[in-house]
Amino acid sequence: MSDQDLLKKQVGYAAADRVKSGMIVGLGTGSTTAFAIQAIGERLQSGDLKDVKGIPTSFQAIVLARQYGIPLVGLDEVDHIDIAIDGADEVDPHKNLIKGGGAAHTQEKIVDSLADQFIVVVDGSKLVDKLGSTFLLPVEVLPMAVAPVSRAIEALGGKPTLRMGVRKAGPVVTDQGNLVIDVKFDNIPDPEGLEKTLNNIPGVLENGLFVNVANLILVGEIKDGKAIVREI
Ligand code: A5P
Repeated sequence: MSDQDLLKKQVGYAAADRVKSGMIVGLGTGSTTAFAIQAIGERLQSGDLKDVKGIPTSFQAIVLARQYGIPLVGLDEVDHIDIAIDGADEVDPHKNLIKGGGAAHTQEKIVDSLADQFIVVVDGSKLVDKLGSTFLLPVEVLPMAVAPVSRAIEALGGKPTLRMGVRKAGPVVTDQGNLVIDVKFDNIPDPEGLEKTLNNIPGVLENGLFVNVANLILVGEIKDGKAIVREI
């Protein structure tokens, strides 16, 4: 396992430690959250945790929850979510995020926003001073609207690129059957405003800006040669 994967595992397990018996838990998407799902499953198998139900944010989360024995429920079966655990591609000093590196940000935003506590799990490489500095902003778009949405994004000063599949010919298709445009903005001075403006373009389903959603950031990093988990 690489050093970065060890940090992801450490922070994923630290988030899973915050889950208590009887909780309804939002299960995020991505390689860091995968460790949290694994850890919750292990705690259920050992009897340390009981009666936990997961709300998945993607096909990946469904597959992992089944693999690790976490019972799943839908949003129509619960009236609240106690805690959501999810990764991020960028985290700024205000705990605002860019998500969607795994094209799952639409379901993630629904589940993460509903949770009483949303815990973000990242390694230190995800911390940035300003959103958009290292990562393109993902925008989920209905397939028939890709051209007009791309033009509208250009008019806002963004450079749009249709996300293409890896080991799959053609574009990435989301869990909802839509496409993803990754957008380079030279800077994002007003993340809250941009989040709303993008979502107001006809044909846009959701974008990867998560403003005022995260409650706690758990950061896996190396300090004095030791792997630690820092809270923000
Ligand atoms: C999924 O669409 C994303 O929002 C992920 O949560 C994000 O890309 C973080 O993934 P990693 O933990 O794999 O970096």
